[in-house]
Amino acid sequence: MKKNAIIISATLLLIISCKKETKESVSEVVVETTYAPKEFDLSKFESKIDSLIALMTLEEKIGMLHGNSMFTTGGVERLGIPELKMADGPLGVREEISRDNWAPAGWDNDFATYYPAGGGLSATWNTDLAYLFGNSVGQETRARGKDMLLSPAINIIRTPLGGRTYEYFSEDPFLNKKTAVPFIVGLQDNDVMACVKHFAVNNQETNRGTVDVIADERTIREIYLPAYKAAVTEANAYSLMGAYNKFRGDYLCENDYMLNKILRDEWGFKGVVVSDWAAVHSTVKTLENGLDIEMGTPKPFNEFFLADKLIAAAKAGEISEAEINKHVKRILTVLFQVKAIDGKDRVEGSIATEAHYQDAYKIASESVVLLKNENNALPLKLEGINSIAVIGNNAIKKNALGGFGAGVKTKREVTPLEGLKNRLPESVTINYAEGYLERYTKNENNKKTEVTLDGPVTVQELDEAKLQEAIEAAKKSDITIIFAGSNRDYETEASDRKDLSLPFGQKEFIEKILAVNPNTIVVMIAGAPFDIEDISKKSSALVWSWFNGSEGGNALADVLLGNINPSGKLPWTMPKKLSDSPAHATNSFPGDESVTYAEGILVGYRWFDTKNIEPLYPFGYGLSYTNFEFSNLKTNNQVYHKDDIIEVSFNIKNIGKMDGKEVAQLYVSKPESKIERAIQELKGFKKILVKSGTSEYVTIQLPAKELAYYNVDKKQWMVEPGTYKIKIGNSSRAIKGEFKIQIN
Ligand code: BGC
Repeated sequence: MKKNAIIISATLLLIISCKKETKESVSEVVVETTYAPKEFDLSKFESKIDSLIALMTLEEKIGMLHGNSMFTTGGVERLGIPELKMADGPLGVREEISRDNWAPAGWDNDFATYYPAGGGLSATWNTDLAYLFGNSVGQETRARGKDMLLSPAINIIRTPLGGRTYEYFSEDPFLNKKTAVPFIVGLQDNDVMACVKHFAVNNQETNRGTVDVIADERTIREIYLPAYKAAVTEANAYSLMGAYNKFRGDYLCENDYMLNKILRDEWGFKGVVVSDWAAVHSTVKTLENGLDIEMGTPKPFNEFFLADKLIAAAKAGEISEAEINKHVKRILTVLFQVKAIDGKDRVEGSIATEAHYQDAYKIASESVVLLKNENNALPLKLEGINSIAVIGNNAIKKNALGGFGAGVKTKREVTPLEGLKNRLPESVTINYAEGYLERYTKNENNKKTEVTLDGPVTVQELDEAKLQEAIEAAKKSDITIIFAGSNRDYETEASDRKDLSLPFGQKEFIEKILAVNPNTIVVMIAGAPFDIEDISKKSSALVWSWFNGSEGGNALADVLLGNINPSGKLPWTMPKKLSDSPAHATNSFPGDESVTYAEGILVGYRWFDTKNIEPLYPFGYGLSYTNFEFSNLKTNNQVYHKDDIIEVSFNIKNIGKMDGKEVAQLYVSKPESKIERAIQELKGFKKILVKSGTSEYVTIQLPAKELAYYNVDKKQWMVEPGTYKIKIGNSSRAIKGEFKIQIN
C-alpha cells in the first residue's frame, strides 16, 4: 500500500477504546496518517497456524524460539516452515555473516546500498524520504532472501555523547515517530518485517548490558515510548527488538511491564519480540514476560536460555506448553504475513541498483544542514577560481563499515573528495591535503585500536609534516574547504564518547588553517554534536553532513556548489557545552548500576528552551541559500474540542533568488498549566518547496489529541482545557508567528 494522504483507514482503528474516558481524556485512536500500513490480521492465517502447531513436537516448537545461527531461527522442514532469516541494519542490509560466528561469510553477492545513517534521514524532516528509504532498503532485504531487517533504530537521543546517536533519529518524540512510521510502512510494503529497536529506554551505551533505567511514568510515555507506540499502532510493525538494559529492575527482554502490559495489552501488538544479541538472562521468566525469540552471540545455540533449558523447563512442568504455543503462533503469524510461508507473489526485490543509489542520494541531498553562511560564502562561486584546497582526512574517509556493530559492504561510497572531483569543472585544480591523521592509541599488543568504556582513545597530537602540507595547500589555493568531524570508528556502538571534543587534534588543526585563510569553509561530517563553538565563530561558512550513504559525497558537493539548495534541519540541539545538556546538567549520566533520568520530560530542546539556555545551534535549525518569509498565520477556528483537528495555515514566501525547501515547524505551549510542562513542544511540521519569488499556502493539521499529556494517576492521555499558544517557525528558537486557541 502506498502513500495515502487521507484520514484513517479502518485498520488503524484497532486500538484500545475500552478504557473508561473522563471529560478531558482522549481515546488512543490515530486521527490522521499519511502512510497506511498493510493490514495485519491474525485471523486470516489462524486455522492454518493452529493445525501446524498441532503437528509439531515440543523440540520443533522450541527450535523456533531461539537462534540456530547468528541471524536465523529454526524452521521445521517437514512441515514446510522455513527458518526466519534476519539481516542486520540500519545503514542498509549488512553483509552476510557466518552461521556460527561473527566473521563475514565471504559471499561475493552481498554488496548492498549504503543508506544515510538515522541522523541524516531525520535531518531531512521529509516523511516522503523516510518512506522512500524504508521501501528501498526493503527491496534490498528481499533481494537477499531475508524476512526481517533489524531496523529502524529509534531510541531517543538523551545525551549528545551517545555512541549510537548517529544511528538514531532525534531527541524529539514527534519527529521520531513521524520519521519512523513511513519508514516502517515502506519497508514492510516489501513483504519483509521491520524489527524496531531497541525497545526501550536504551539511551546510552555505557553499561548497556546491565544498567537499570529509572524513569518516571510520564517521562516514558511522553518522551521515550511515542515512536514505538506509533510503530505498533500506526505502522503495524511486525517485530520489535528488546534492549540490553534494565528498566525499573528488570531486563527489557524479560520486562513484563514493557512487553506484556504496555506493548501487547495496551497497544495491541501482534508481532514478535526478538532479543538484542545476547540480551536474554532467564528462561521461564523471559518467555512468560513477553519475549518470543532469543538471538545471541556465538556459543552452541542449544545452550541459549530459550533452547535446551526451555525444553527441560517444559518437561519439568515449570512452563506450560500453551505458553510455548502462544509464542510459536506469533512467529508463524509474521512468517505468513510476509509470505515466507505459502509465499505466492512475494516481493523479489533488487539490490545495489542505480535506482537505489539514487534513493540514497535523494535522502543525503536533503539532509545537509547549513549552520553558518557569512557574506554568502556558499554556494561556491567558481568565476575566476582556478584551485580549491580540499583538506582533512574526512574528505577521503569511508564510513559504510567501521566501528563496532552493523555496517554495509558496498561497491559505492562516494567520498567528499570524489564528490567534488565528480562535480567540479576540469579547469579547477583540487589541492588535496590530508592535514590531520586518524590515529588511535593501540593496546599493549600494538595491534588493535584501544577501546575503553569512553570509546576509542585517539591521538590528539598533530603530525607536523601533514599540517605544513595542508597550510601550503590552503595558501596556494583560491578557496579552502576543510572536511572534519568524526567517523564511524570513533562514534560507535558499545561505547559513549567521554566528551564533546573533536578527535585527532582537529580543533587545533582547523584553527591553524583558519588563521592562514579566514575565508575557509568548514564541513563537519559526524553523527552527533561536537564542541564546535570556536570553529563556528572563526569560520565564514559551516556545513554539517552525516554518515551519509553511498552517494554522500556527490550530495555534499552539490550542496557546496549550489546545485542543491540545503534544506536539512538539526534533529537535535547542538549545545555550547556538555554541561548545558539536560542529562549532564542534572548529573544523571551515565549512572552506574542504575541511571535516573532526572531531567524527566525536559529532554533536548525542551530543557534548553524551558530553562532559557542558549544552545550553539537550536533544534530544527538550518539555513538555506534563499530566505523565506512567513505570513498570514491563522487557524480555521478559535475554539476547539479535544477530538477536533486544528488546521493551521500560513504563507511561506521565497524572497531570494534560488528555489528552496523550507521546513515549517509547529510548536505548542500551554501557559498556565496545572502540570509541569516544557515551554514548547513540536507538534507538527511540513517540508515544502517554494520557488524563488513565489509564495506557497501551507496547512498543517494538528489533531487536538496531540496536545494531550499523560496523566499518571488516571493512566490516561488527557487534553487540559484552556488556552494554548500555537507557534510557527523554522527552528525551536526562530518563531515567526504565534496565536492563541482555546480547547474546551
Ligand atoms: C545491536 C543491534 C544489532 C545486533 C545484531 C547488537 O549488538 O545492539 O542493534 O542489530 O547486535 O548485530
